[in-house]
Amino acid sequence: MERVNFGSRLGIILATAGSAVGLGNVWRFPYMTGENGGAVFILIYLGCVLLLGIPCMISEFIIGRHGQANTARAFRNVSGGTPWTIIGYMGVMTGFLITGYYAVVSGWCLQYIWASLAGHLKGDPQYFQHYFQAFSADPVKPIFWTVVILLATYLIVEHGVRSGIERASKVLMPLLFLLLLIIVVASCMLPGAADGIRFLLKPDLTALNGNVFLGALGQAFYSLSIAMGCICTYASYFSRQTNLTQSAVQIGVIDCLVAVLAGLMIFPAAFSVGVSPDSGPSLIFITLPNVFQQAFAALPVVGYIVSLLFYALLSMAALTSLISLVEVSTAFVHEEARVSRKRAALIVTIACCIVGAFCSLSLGASSSLVIAGRSLFDWFDFITGQIFLPVVGFLTSIFIGWAVPHKVVRDEFTNWGTLRGRYFHLYLFLVKYVCPVCILFIFLHQFGLI
Ligand code: PHE
Repeated sequence: MERVNFGSRLGIILATAGSAVGLGNVWRFPYMTGENGGAVFILIYLGCVLLLGIPCMISEFIIGRHGQANTARAFRNVSGGTPWTIIGYMGVMTGFLITGYYAVVSGWCLQYIWASLAGHLKGDPQYFQHYFQAFSADPVKPIFWTVVILLATYLIVEHGVRSGIERASKVLMPLLFLLLLIIVVASCMLPGAADGIRFLLKPDLTALNGNVFLGALGQAFYSLSIAMGCICTYASYFSRQTNLTQSAVQIGVIDCLVAVLAGLMIFPAAFSVGVSPDSGPSLIFITLPNVFQQAFAALPVVGYIVSLLFYALLSMAALTSLISLVEVSTAFVHEEARVSRKRAALIVTIACCIVGAFCSLSLGASSSLVIAGRSLFDWFDFITGQIFLPVVGFLTSIFIGWAVPHKVVRDEFTNWGTLRGRYFHLYLFLVKYVCPVCILFIFLHQFGLI
Protein backbone atom coordinates (compact mmCIF):
# COMPACT_ATOMS: atom_id res chain seq x y z
CA MET A 1 0.00 0.00 0.00
CA GLU A 2 1.29 3.46 -0.92
CA ARG A 3 2.09 5.45 2.22
CA VAL A 4 0.66 8.96 2.50
CA ASN A 5 3.12 11.70 1.64
CA PHE A 6 3.47 15.38 2.28
CA GLY A 7 2.13 17.16 -0.79
CA SER A 8 4.95 19.59 -1.46
CA ARG A 9 8.55 20.48 -0.70
CA LEU A 10 7.42 23.60 1.12
CA GLY A 11 5.07 21.49 3.24
CA ILE A 12 7.94 19.21 4.23
CA ILE A 13 10.18 22.08 5.21
CA LEU A 14 7.54 24.01 7.11
CA ALA A 15 6.17 20.99 8.97
CA THR A 16 9.60 19.76 10.00
CA ALA A 17 10.81 23.25 10.85
CA GLY A 18 7.58 23.59 12.85
CA SER A 19 8.66 20.66 14.95
CA ALA A 20 12.11 22.15 15.44
CA VAL A 21 11.03 25.71 16.19
CA GLY A 22 9.53 25.65 19.65
CA LEU A 23 9.85 26.87 23.18
CA GLY A 24 13.53 25.89 23.18
CA ASN A 25 14.27 28.61 20.63
CA VAL A 26 12.72 31.29 22.78
CA TRP A 27 13.46 30.38 26.34
CA ARG A 28 16.90 28.85 26.18
CA PHE A 29 18.85 29.89 23.13
CA PRO A 30 18.89 33.67 23.74
CA TYR A 31 19.93 33.23 27.36
CA MET A 32 22.67 30.77 26.55
CA THR A 33 23.98 33.10 23.90
CA GLY A 34 24.07 36.07 26.26
CA GLU A 35 25.78 34.07 28.99
CA ASN A 36 28.26 32.20 26.85
CA GLY A 37 30.06 34.71 24.72
CA GLY A 38 27.42 36.22 22.41
CA ALA A 39 28.39 36.03 18.75
CA VAL A 40 31.06 33.46 19.56
CA PHE A 41 28.43 31.17 21.04
CA ILE A 42 26.24 31.65 17.97
CA LEU A 43 29.16 30.57 15.78
CA ILE A 44 29.82 27.51 17.92
CA TYR A 45 26.14 26.71 17.91
CA LEU A 46 26.04 26.96 14.12
CA GLY A 47 29.05 24.66 13.99
CA CYS A 48 27.23 22.13 16.20
CA VAL A 49 24.12 22.33 14.06
CA LEU A 50 26.11 21.92 10.87
CA LEU A 51 28.53 19.19 11.93
CA LEU A 52 26.37 17.23 14.37
CA GLY A 53 22.72 18.28 14.31
CA ILE A 54 22.26 18.10 10.57
CA PRO A 55 24.01 14.71 10.16
CA CYS A 56 21.85 13.28 12.96
CA MET A 57 18.78 14.73 11.31
CA ILE A 58 19.78 13.18 7.98
CA SER A 59 20.24 9.82 9.75
CA GLU A 60 16.70 10.01 11.10
CA PHE A 61 15.46 11.04 7.66
CA ILE A 62 17.13 7.97 6.18
CA ILE A 63 15.63 5.60 8.72
CA GLY A 64 12.16 7.14 8.43
CA ARG A 65 12.06 7.24 4.66
CA HIS A 66 13.64 3.85 4.20
CA GLY A 67 11.51 2.27 6.92
CA GLN A 68 8.25 3.78 5.58
CA ALA A 69 6.55 3.37 8.94
CA ASN A 70 6.25 4.81 12.44
CA THR A 71 9.56 5.20 14.28
CA ALA A 72 9.51 1.81 16.05
CA ARG A 73 8.63 -0.12 12.93
CA ALA A 74 10.97 1.95 10.78
CA PHE A 75 13.91 0.88 12.95
CA ARG A 76 12.67 -2.70 12.71
CA ASN A 77 12.36 -2.52 8.92
CA VAL A 78 15.76 -0.95 8.45
CA SER A 79 17.51 -3.28 10.90
CA GLY A 80 15.76 -6.42 9.68
CA GLY A 81 14.22 -7.11 13.08
CA THR A 82 17.49 -7.21 15.05
CA PRO A 83 17.72 -5.71 18.58
CA TRP A 84 18.41 -2.28 17.04
CA THR A 85 14.62 -2.12 16.87
CA ILE A 86 14.67 -1.13 20.54
CA ILE A 87 16.01 2.32 19.63
CA GLY A 88 12.82 2.93 17.69
CA TYR A 89 10.70 2.01 20.67
CA MET A 90 12.79 4.29 22.87
CA GLY A 91 12.27 7.12 20.40
CA VAL A 92 8.51 6.65 20.50
CA MET A 93 8.53 6.51 24.27
CA THR A 94 10.67 9.65 24.54
CA GLY A 95 8.31 11.43 22.17
CA PHE A 96 5.35 10.37 24.26
CA LEU A 97 6.84 11.30 27.61
CA ILE A 98 7.98 14.69 26.46
CA THR A 99 4.49 15.44 25.08
CA GLY A 100 2.99 15.38 28.57
CA TYR A 101 5.16 18.09 29.98
CA TYR A 102 5.52 20.06 26.76
CA ALA A 103 1.72 20.25 26.59
CA VAL A 104 1.56 21.67 30.11
CA VAL A 105 3.93 24.52 29.22
CA SER A 106 2.08 25.07 25.94
CA GLY A 107 -1.12 25.32 27.96
CA TRP A 108 0.48 28.02 30.11
CA CYS A 109 1.07 30.03 26.92
CA LEU A 110 -2.65 29.88 26.17
CA GLN A 111 -3.48 31.03 29.68
CA TYR A 112 -1.14 33.97 29.18
CA ILE A 113 -2.86 34.90 25.91
CA TRP A 114 -6.02 35.02 27.91
CA ALA A 115 -4.36 36.95 30.74
CA SER A 116 -2.99 39.54 28.28
CA LEU A 117 -6.41 39.94 26.69
CA ALA A 118 -8.12 40.32 30.04
CA GLY A 119 -5.52 42.85 31.19
CA HIS A 120 -4.23 40.70 34.05
CA LEU A 121 -0.58 41.20 33.18
CA LYS A 122 -0.16 44.45 35.07
CA GLY A 123 1.72 44.98 38.31
CA ASP A 124 5.13 45.03 39.96
CA PRO A 125 7.74 42.24 39.57
CA GLN A 126 6.49 40.46 42.71
CA TYR A 127 3.02 40.43 41.28
CA PHE A 128 4.20 38.57 38.16
CA GLN A 129 6.07 36.06 40.24
CA HIS A 130 3.10 35.48 42.46
CA TYR A 131 0.70 35.30 39.52
CA PHE A 132 2.75 32.59 37.83
CA GLN A 133 3.30 30.55 40.97
CA ALA A 134 -0.36 30.67 41.94
CA PHE A 135 -1.45 29.78 38.42
CA SER A 136 0.97 26.92 37.77
CA ALA A 137 0.19 25.32 41.15
CA ASP A 138 -3.57 25.62 40.66
CA PRO A 139 -5.24 22.19 40.48
CA VAL A 140 -7.66 23.08 37.67
CA LYS A 141 -6.68 25.97 35.40
CA PRO A 142 -3.39 24.66 33.95
CA ILE A 143 -4.97 21.27 33.33
CA PHE A 144 -7.81 22.95 31.53
CA TRP A 145 -5.40 24.76 29.20
CA THR A 146 -3.32 21.62 28.69
CA VAL A 147 -6.45 19.83 27.54
CA VAL A 148 -7.35 22.76 25.26
CA ILE A 149 -3.99 22.77 23.47
CA LEU A 150 -3.99 18.99 23.17
CA LEU A 151 -7.47 19.16 21.72
CA ALA A 152 -6.30 21.69 19.13
CA THR A 153 -3.39 19.37 18.33
CA TYR A 154 -5.77 16.44 18.04
CA LEU A 155 -8.02 18.29 15.61
CA ILE A 156 -5.04 18.92 13.34
CA VAL A 157 -3.42 15.49 13.62
CA GLU A 158 -6.64 13.54 13.08
CA HIS A 159 -7.01 15.24 9.68
CA GLY A 160 -3.97 13.39 8.50
CA VAL A 161 -0.61 14.30 7.09
CA ARG A 162 -1.63 16.51 4.19
CA SER A 163 -4.84 18.18 5.19
CA GLY A 164 -3.95 18.28 8.87
CA ILE A 165 -0.26 18.65 9.63
CA GLU A 166 0.92 20.13 6.34
CA ARG A 167 -1.93 22.59 6.01
CA ALA A 168 -1.64 23.79 9.60
CA SER A 169 2.13 24.24 9.28
CA LYS A 170 1.72 26.29 6.12
CA VAL A 171 -0.45 28.73 8.02
CA LEU A 172 1.19 28.70 11.44
CA MET A 173 4.84 28.97 10.43
CA PRO A 174 4.59 32.09 8.24
CA LEU A 175 2.35 33.69 10.85
CA LEU A 176 4.85 32.88 13.55
CA PHE A 177 7.61 34.47 11.52
CA LEU A 178 5.54 37.58 10.96
CA LEU A 179 4.75 37.98 14.66
CA LEU A 180 8.39 37.46 15.47
CA LEU A 181 9.45 40.23 13.09
CA ILE A 182 6.86 42.64 14.46
CA ILE A 183 8.02 42.11 18.04
CA VAL A 184 11.71 42.30 17.06
CA VAL A 185 11.09 45.68 15.43
CA ALA A 186 9.09 46.95 18.42
CA SER A 187 11.77 45.74 20.82
CA CYS A 188 14.72 47.11 18.86
CA MET A 189 13.10 50.56 18.63
CA LEU A 190 13.05 51.01 22.40
CA PRO A 191 15.49 53.48 23.95
CA GLY A 192 18.65 51.69 25.04
CA ALA A 193 17.89 48.70 22.84
CA ALA A 194 21.38 48.84 21.35
CA ASP A 195 22.85 47.57 24.64
CA GLY A 196 20.74 44.45 24.39
CA ILE A 197 21.78 43.86 20.81
CA ARG A 198 25.39 44.36 21.81
CA PHE A 199 25.07 41.92 24.70
CA LEU A 200 23.61 39.30 22.41
CA LEU A 201 25.98 39.73 19.51
CA LYS A 202 29.20 40.98 21.07
CA PRO A 203 31.88 38.33 20.62
CA ASP A 204 33.36 37.62 24.04
CA LEU A 205 36.18 35.12 23.86
CA THR A 206 36.77 35.16 27.60
CA ALA A 207 33.46 33.39 28.24
CA LEU A 208 34.63 30.37 26.27
CA ASN A 209 35.25 27.04 27.98
CA GLY A 210 34.35 23.38 27.55
CA ASN A 211 30.90 23.89 29.04
CA VAL A 212 30.03 26.31 26.28
CA PHE A 213 30.64 23.66 23.64
CA LEU A 214 28.64 21.05 25.49
CA GLY A 215 25.83 23.53 26.14
CA ALA A 216 25.70 24.44 22.47
CA LEU A 217 25.63 20.80 21.46
CA GLY A 218 22.82 19.86 23.84
CA GLN A 219 20.81 22.87 22.74
CA ALA A 220 21.34 22.01 19.06
CA PHE A 221 19.95 18.50 19.55
CA TYR A 222 16.96 19.58 21.57
CA SER A 223 16.20 22.46 19.28
CA LEU A 224 16.26 20.32 16.14
CA SER A 225 13.86 17.78 17.76
CA ILE A 226 16.41 15.03 17.29
CA ALA A 227 16.03 11.62 18.98
CA MET A 228 12.36 12.02 19.84
CA GLY A 229 10.92 10.09 16.94
CA CYS A 230 9.52 13.27 15.35
CA ILE A 231 12.02 13.67 12.54
CA CYS A 232 11.92 9.97 11.73
CA THR A 233 8.11 9.87 11.66
CA TYR A 234 7.86 12.93 9.42
CA ALA A 235 10.52 11.52 7.11
CA SER A 236 8.38 8.45 6.57
CA TYR A 237 6.00 10.81 4.75
CA PHE A 238 8.73 12.29 2.51
CA SER A 239 8.66 11.39 -1.16
CA ARG A 240 11.46 9.59 -2.98
CA GLN A 241 12.37 12.88 -4.64
CA THR A 242 12.95 14.78 -1.40
CA ASN A 243 16.57 15.87 -1.17
CA LEU A 244 17.39 14.88 2.41
CA THR A 245 20.60 16.88 2.82
CA GLN A 246 19.16 20.05 1.38
CA SER A 247 16.02 19.75 3.51
CA ALA A 248 18.01 19.21 6.69
CA VAL A 249 20.13 22.29 5.95
CA GLN A 250 17.07 24.42 5.25
CA ILE A 251 15.38 23.30 8.45
CA GLY A 252 18.57 23.97 10.43
CA VAL A 253 18.80 27.47 8.95
CA ILE A 254 15.18 28.29 9.81
CA ASP A 255 15.62 27.00 13.33
CA CYS A 256 18.78 29.06 13.92
CA LEU A 257 17.24 32.15 12.38
CA VAL A 258 14.22 31.95 14.67
CA ALA A 259 16.47 31.43 17.68
CA VAL A 260 18.59 34.50 16.90
CA LEU A 261 15.49 36.60 16.19
CA ALA A 262 14.04 35.45 19.51
CA GLY A 263 17.18 36.89 21.12
CA LEU A 264 16.64 40.17 19.28
CA MET A 265 13.09 40.18 20.58
CA ILE A 266 14.01 39.59 24.22
CA PHE A 267 17.34 41.27 24.97
CA PRO A 268 16.75 44.78 23.60
CA ALA A 269 13.48 45.07 25.55
CA ALA A 270 15.01 43.64 28.73
CA PHE A 271 18.06 45.91 28.54
CA SER A 272 15.99 48.97 27.82
CA VAL A 273 14.32 48.58 31.23
CA GLY A 274 17.42 47.30 33.00
CA VAL A 275 16.09 43.82 33.79
CA SER A 276 18.51 40.95 33.38
CA PRO A 277 16.95 38.14 31.39
CA ASP A 278 17.03 34.54 32.63
CA SER A 279 15.93 31.31 30.98
CA GLY A 280 13.24 28.66 31.18
CA PRO A 281 9.65 29.14 32.30
CA SER A 282 10.54 32.03 34.58
CA LEU A 283 11.86 34.02 31.59
CA ILE A 284 8.69 33.79 29.56
CA PHE A 285 6.11 33.79 32.32
CA ILE A 286 7.63 36.06 34.99
CA THR A 287 10.42 38.23 33.57
CA LEU A 288 9.06 39.08 30.14
CA PRO A 289 5.51 40.16 31.03
CA ASN A 290 7.12 42.62 33.42
CA VAL A 291 9.64 43.73 30.78
CA PHE A 292 6.95 44.36 28.17
CA GLN A 293 4.84 46.27 30.63
CA GLN A 294 7.70 48.52 31.69
CA ALA A 295 9.27 48.92 28.27
CA PHE A 296 6.07 50.17 26.72
CA ALA A 297 4.83 52.06 29.75
CA ALA A 298 4.60 55.26 27.72
CA LEU A 299 2.39 53.55 25.15
CA PRO A 300 0.33 51.01 27.08
CA VAL A 301 -1.62 49.97 23.98
CA VAL A 302 1.58 48.90 22.26
CA GLY A 303 2.64 47.00 25.38
CA TYR A 304 -0.72 45.27 25.44
CA ILE A 305 -0.47 44.30 21.78
CA VAL A 306 3.16 43.16 22.04
CA SER A 307 2.41 40.94 25.00
CA LEU A 308 -0.60 39.44 23.25
CA LEU A 309 1.37 38.82 20.08
CA PHE A 310 4.22 37.33 22.08
CA TYR A 311 2.05 34.70 23.74
CA ALA A 312 0.27 34.01 20.45
CA LEU A 313 3.70 33.43 18.90
CA LEU A 314 4.76 31.12 21.71
CA SER A 315 1.53 29.16 21.47
CA MET A 316 1.98 28.68 17.75
CA ALA A 317 5.60 27.60 18.13
CA ALA A 318 4.56 25.16 20.85
CA LEU A 319 1.61 23.89 18.83
CA THR A 320 3.64 22.95 15.75
CA SER A 321 6.09 21.09 18.00
CA LEU A 322 3.26 19.35 19.83
CA ILE A 323 1.74 18.27 16.53
CA SER A 324 4.95 16.48 15.65
CA LEU A 325 5.14 14.88 19.08
CA VAL A 326 1.56 13.65 19.02
CA GLU A 327 2.10 12.37 15.48
CA VAL A 328 4.92 10.10 16.69
CA SER A 329 2.60 8.18 19.00
CA THR A 330 -0.40 8.45 16.70
CA ALA A 331 1.47 6.82 13.81
CA PHE A 332 2.70 4.17 16.25
CA VAL A 333 -0.74 3.30 17.63
CA HIS A 334 -2.35 3.53 14.19
CA GLU A 335 0.08 1.09 12.62
CA GLU A 336 0.86 -1.22 15.50
CA ALA A 337 -2.59 -1.56 17.05
CA ARG A 338 -4.23 -1.40 13.60
CA VAL A 339 -6.84 1.13 14.60
CA SER A 340 -7.96 4.01 12.39
CA ARG A 341 -5.86 7.15 12.38
CA LYS A 342 -8.63 9.16 14.02
CA ARG A 343 -9.02 6.65 16.81
CA ALA A 344 -5.26 6.43 17.29
CA ALA A 345 -5.05 10.22 17.57
CA LEU A 346 -7.83 10.18 20.13
CA ILE A 347 -6.21 7.47 22.25
CA VAL A 348 -2.89 9.31 22.19
CA THR A 349 -4.51 12.63 23.03
CA ILE A 350 -6.33 11.16 26.02
CA ALA A 351 -3.15 9.47 27.23
CA CYS A 352 -1.24 12.77 26.86
CA CYS A 353 -3.96 14.63 28.77
CA ILE A 354 -3.58 12.17 31.64
CA VAL A 355 0.21 12.42 31.70
CA GLY A 356 -0.04 16.20 31.36
CA ALA A 357 -2.52 16.40 34.25
CA PHE A 358 -0.17 14.48 36.54
CA CYS A 359 2.77 16.65 35.50
CA SER A 360 0.78 19.77 36.18
CA LEU A 361 -0.48 18.54 39.54
CA SER A 362 3.06 17.71 40.59
CA LEU A 363 3.89 21.42 40.45
CA GLY A 364 2.00 22.27 43.59
CA ALA A 365 -1.46 20.84 43.91
CA SER A 366 -0.29 17.35 44.80
CA SER A 367 2.93 16.99 46.74
CA SER A 368 2.64 13.18 46.58
CA LEU A 369 3.80 13.53 42.98
CA VAL A 370 7.17 14.81 44.08
CA ILE A 371 9.66 11.96 43.93
CA ALA A 372 13.18 12.20 45.35
CA GLY A 373 12.92 15.96 45.56
CA ARG A 374 11.86 16.42 41.95
CA SER A 375 8.32 16.97 40.74
CA LEU A 376 6.99 14.62 38.11
CA PHE A 377 7.27 17.57 35.72
CA ASP A 378 11.01 17.90 36.38
CA TRP A 379 11.48 14.14 36.17
CA PHE A 380 9.97 14.05 32.71
CA ASP A 381 12.13 16.93 31.62
CA PHE A 382 15.21 15.26 33.08
CA ILE A 383 14.57 11.74 31.77
CA THR A 384 13.64 12.80 28.26
CA GLY A 385 16.16 15.62 27.77
CA GLN A 386 19.14 14.34 29.68
CA ILE A 387 18.90 10.59 29.41
CA PHE A 388 16.78 9.40 26.51
CA LEU A 389 17.75 12.14 24.09
CA PRO A 390 21.51 11.48 24.24
CA VAL A 391 21.08 7.71 24.43
CA VAL A 392 18.76 7.55 21.42
CA GLY A 393 20.91 10.05 19.50
CA PHE A 394 24.06 8.08 20.25
CA LEU A 395 22.58 4.71 19.30
CA THR A 396 21.02 6.11 16.13
CA SER A 397 24.41 7.39 14.96
CA ILE A 398 26.06 4.05 15.72
CA PHE A 399 23.25 2.22 13.97
CA ILE A 400 23.47 4.24 10.76
CA GLY A 401 27.26 4.54 10.83
CA TRP A 402 28.15 0.96 11.68
CA ALA A 403 25.20 -1.39 11.31
CA VAL A 404 23.10 -0.36 8.31
CA PRO A 405 24.69 -1.42 4.99
CA HIS A 406 26.36 1.58 3.37
CA LYS A 407 24.53 0.90 0.16
CA VAL A 408 21.20 1.56 1.87
CA VAL A 409 22.53 4.76 3.41
CA ARG A 410 24.02 5.92 0.13
CA ASP A 411 20.86 5.13 -1.83
CA GLU A 412 18.75 7.19 0.51
CA PHE A 413 21.35 9.96 0.66
CA THR A 414 21.55 10.26 -3.12
CA ASN A 415 17.90 9.42 -3.88
CA TRP A 416 18.99 6.20 -5.58
CA GLY A 417 21.80 7.78 -7.49
CA THR A 418 19.82 10.68 -8.92
CA LEU A 419 21.70 13.20 -6.76
CA ARG A 420 25.46 13.60 -6.77
CA GLY A 421 25.79 13.08 -3.04
CA ARG A 422 28.93 15.20 -2.90
CA TYR A 423 28.93 15.23 0.89
CA PHE A 424 28.24 11.55 1.42
CA HIS A 425 31.69 10.66 2.71
CA LEU A 426 31.79 13.66 5.00
CA TYR A 427 28.35 12.72 6.32
CA LEU A 428 29.37 9.14 6.91
CA PHE A 429 32.52 10.20 8.71
CA LEU A 430 30.58 12.53 10.99
CA VAL A 431 27.94 9.93 11.79
CA LYS A 432 30.44 7.16 12.38
CA TYR A 433 32.92 8.95 14.58
CA VAL A 434 32.20 12.55 15.42
CA CYS A 435 28.52 12.34 16.45
CA PRO A 436 28.82 9.34 18.81
CA VAL A 437 31.93 10.73 20.51
CA CYS A 438 30.44 14.19 21.01
CA ILE A 439 27.11 12.85 22.28
CA LEU A 440 28.95 10.61 24.70
CA PHE A 441 30.80 13.66 25.97
CA ILE A 442 27.62 15.62 26.72
CA PHE A 443 26.13 12.59 28.40
CA LEU A 444 29.08 11.98 30.70
CA HIS A 445 29.61 15.65 31.33
CA GLN A 446 26.08 16.32 32.54
CA PHE A 447 26.50 13.67 35.22
CA GLY A 448 29.78 15.21 36.26
CA LEU A 449 31.74 12.18 35.07
CA ILE A 450 34.15 14.22 32.97
N1 PHE B 1 12.55 21.44 19.16
C1 PHE B 1 11.57 21.87 20.09
C2 PHE B 1 11.94 23.21 20.69
O1 PHE B 1 12.89 23.83 20.33
C3 PHE B 1 11.35 20.92 21.19
C4 PHE B 1 10.96 19.58 20.73
C5 PHE B 1 11.76 18.54 21.00
C6 PHE B 1 9.83 19.40 19.99
C7 PHE B 1 11.45 17.30 20.52
C8 PHE B 1 9.52 18.18 19.51
C9 PHE B 1 10.34 17.12 19.79
O2 PHE B 1 11.26 23.67 21.56
